[in-house]
Amino acid sequence: MSIIDDLTNIAGDLQKKATLELSMEEVLDLKESFFGKKGKINEVMKNIRFASNEEKPLVGKKVNELKQKYLASLDEKIKTLEKAKLNEQLMNQRIDITLPGRRVSFGDLHPIRKAEYELVQICESMGFSVATGPIIEDMFHNFEALNIPETHPSRDMHDTFYLANDKVLRTHTSSVQIRYMQNNRPPIKIVAPGQVFRSDQDRTHSPMFHQLEGLYINHNVTLPELKYALERILKQFFNDDFPIRYRSSYFPFTEPSFEVDVKFSSTGEWMEVLGAGMVHRNVLRSVDLDPDTYTGFAFGLGIDRLAMLKYGISDIRAFYENDIRFLRQGK
Ligand code: PHE
Repeated sequence: MSIIDDLTNIAGDLQKKATLELSMEEVLDLKESFFGKKGKINEVMKNIRFASNEEKPLVGKKVNELKQKYLASLDEKIKTLEKAKLNEQLMNQRIDITLPGRRVSFGDLHPIRKAEYELVQICESMGFSVATGPIIEDMFHNFEALNIPETHPSRDMHDTFYLANDKVLRTHTSSVQIRYMQNNRPPIKIVAPGQVFRSDQDRTHSPMFHQLEGLYINHNVTLPELKYALERILKQFFNDDFPIRYRSSYFPFTEPSFEVDVKFSSTGEWMEVLGAGMVHRNVLRSVDLDPDTYTGFAFGLGIDRLAMLKYGISDIRAFYENDIRFLRQGK
């Protein structure tokens, strides 16, 4: 028999088998037994050297034909069977929708930031808008315009961090009052939240802490309005009544001035949470406002202290230790 005849027989064989319904295993076997290394086609090809010169190109052609016709269709079959198998696996899979989901842990706001947002929101509901200013301040905005001349002992009230070029880390947010009044005319009604810095540290002092400054300038602003505003802010922030008391005090930029203390429920201790007063005439003058035309009130509220009271935290430094267990408690 010639090689061509062998190949023709193989073709007939393949033709028969390829049309059968085969399992995956059978298809793989079939492919191997015809087209594999030791498959029938290779076996036949071993005899190519006995073929005549006219036969040789015909043999090549025939082998290519076989490959084209059957190898591709066998591969196609394998693919189809694989797909079917996967489908079956998917169909047999059962998903237990009653299993509890995997816990995802979400981040949350820092308690100070939460308290700040809450306070700002309360103030906004009362008609205050938000202003901001730089943390690195000059002497004019942090001190002089606030009626704190260089020689005045009250400069020492703040344990200031001094920087080069006559700059300081602002010791209070009152500097934002000045900046705002320089650029806006009354009526002015703003709050300015932000970081402030003083070289001081103990249970109720941190070298960096947060204040919320309030400023209201208009015609005929009175002290009762200031008290009303403060009480409303504190009442809303604490959801109910935390005992508060007023203490007269001194600030160079307000006259009269007072402070408000809130009672710590756990220890019964009073803690100072804000300073306030009627804006000093010299402050108005420093931003070219006529103190006979305008009056106003200002307050500076310690956000950290209010957060301590609200969340029952007795050491301010806990806010800044970045202990995730502490931070998570507020969630
Ligand atoms: N700036 C003052 C402080 O930091 C607080 C304050 C603000 C007092 C506004 C009166 C008016 O202590």
